[in-house]
Amino acid sequence: LARGVTEPDLAGRHVVVSAGGTREPLDPVRFLGNRSSGKQGYALARTAAARGARVTLVSANAGLPDPAGVDVVRVGTAVQLREAVLKAAADADAVVMAAAVADFRPAAYAAGKIKKKDGKDPDPIILLRNPDILAEISADRARPGQVIVGFAAETDDVLANGRAKLARKGCDLLVVNEVGERKTFGAEENEAVVLGSDGTETPVPHGPKEALADTVWDLVVGRLD
Ligand code: CTP
Ligand code: CA
Repeated sequence: LARGVTEPDLAGRHVVVSAGGTREPLDPVRFLGNRSSGKQGYALARTAAARGARVTLVSANAGLPDPAGVDVVRVGTAVQLREAVLKAAADADAVVMAAAVADFRPAAYAAGKIKKKDGKDPDPIILLRNPDILAEISADRARPGQVIVGFAAETDDVLANGRAKLARKGCDLLVVNEVGERKTFGAEENEAVVLGSDGTETPVPHGPKEALADTVWDLVVGRLD
């Protein structure tokens, strides 16, 4: 896609994007959460709408305004995110999981605020595994030919970790970020490599999150029937 030119190459398509980070409540005032700002997911939603798609944005705790012309579904926890994504994905041409989904949730929710007990150590927090939404929607596609994209932040051997994760999840594309100083969390800019299940590797140079979003949609469009 030429720079500055927006072609309606997603017209007539329904795409689902998850964004933000889930929060897993411990009690009415506390949760286990993560640092995802939601900016990359919102950029994906905005750029898809600009390219003519009908967009459902499943937003987990992102403190960002609703993008114009996008259908926003707000969720809190991973279990709620799963429900909203599965529902929206039923008739979707593509699903992009940009949300940071908590891997674990507290096994118990305290209806009242957890209080300190005099002279006593706190009770341990028992955690349960959350469902793996990306693996689930990839294994059990709502439509034949539906294109599914995941995101991963990795350290160490970023590409090898990304390849292994792509295979494990069963999705078509995996956007791999290297985590480090000034990268990824809350930043306006991003750099990544997009790995394809067909063995392709698309490097995306450091730049605005919109540019990465447009590269993702270019790769998705190339895989739609
Ligand atoms: N994801 C998901 N459901 C989960 C966890 C992750 O759908 N319970 C999705 C994320 O939205 C992201 C992708 O899977 O698109 C990769 O997330 P990541 O946390 O890197 O994968 P994990 O399998 O949880 O691996 P790790 O143990 O490295 O955290
Ligand atoms: Ca994880």
